[in-house]
Amino acid sequence: MTTTTTQSTRHAAGLALGAVALLFSAAGMAGCRGDRTDKPPRQFFPDMDQQPKLKPQSETQFFEDSRSQRPLVERSVPFGSHAVAAESVASDAWAGMIQADRDRMLKADETFSFGIVKGSTMAEPEYVDYMPVQMTSELIARGKERFDIYCSACHGYTGHGGNEGTVGRLWSYAPANLMSEIYRDRSTFQGKDGYLFHVIREGLWRPDGGNRMPAYKHAINEQDAWAVVAYLRVLQAAQGVPFDQLDPADQARLETTGGNP
Ligand code: HEC
Repeated sequence: MTTTTTQSTRHAAGLALGAVALLFSAAGMAGCRGDRTDKPPRQFFPDMDQQPKLKPQSETQFFEDSRSQRPLVERSVPFGSHAVAAESVASDAWAGMIQADRDRMLKADETFSFGIVKGSTMAEPEYVDYMPVQMTSELIARGKERFDIYCSACHGYTGHGGNEGTVGRLWSYAPANLMSEIYRDRSTFQGKDGYLFHVIREGLWRPDGGNRMPAYKHAINEQDAWAVVAYLRVLQAAQGVPFDQLDPADQARLETTGGNP
């Protein structure tokens, strides 16, 4: 009796082990995309993974002249190789847009791309007092959106820095108060539109390479960085108006509510 029980228990254990082994091997066979393996991947639609193509500057039997790279279509001009004639830019909005695109791609306009005065260099930058883009309500709206996304975490939604931002209050450096006079006064280095633009794009660094504020040029392109500068100016203007220069309606509202909404 005892012997039989032991035998059948062994039998059951053997079966269970076999089942587990089978499961593992099945799992091994069913390797999927994303799994790590040294074997070549299974391709269910090989024509989507590997499509015939020609690489530039290589030889091919396909074209008569054996060149994979095709000559330019006659009379076409590669983008960026010629500036648009100044008189067309002046007279034609369309030509102006092409020229601006080209300048932006080639970073030919140092004021737009780096915030510096034309002819000045990044080694010895002279920042522009005023942004080179037109201040419009769309620009300000875009700037507010970008500021709220990228800057408010440290400088707060109103730009006061200090403890206002959720990240800023834990940051190793106290985020600057962007409403203070030095960032408003264009006659000082730090008050110039070009300098604010530069800080947004390049961040702030210690001489030993340590970071004080992250750079945002991976996320905020030139046009958007100018939009953020525009919004900063709006924030500053909105927060610095002396009482007697306010609208009578706003004065009345302030007096009755004490500024609370
Ligand atoms: C991760 C936190 C953080 C974020 C996000 C951040 N900043 Fe800063 N920023 C700082 C800190 C910290 C300082 C002060 C550094 C110091 O004093 O060494 C600073 C300083 C500045 C200054 C003053 C520069 C100077 O020379 O005094 C400007 C202008 C500025 N930030 C603008 C911005 C704008 C605009 C954004 C959004 C694009 C932004 N910052 C996003 C942390 C941040």
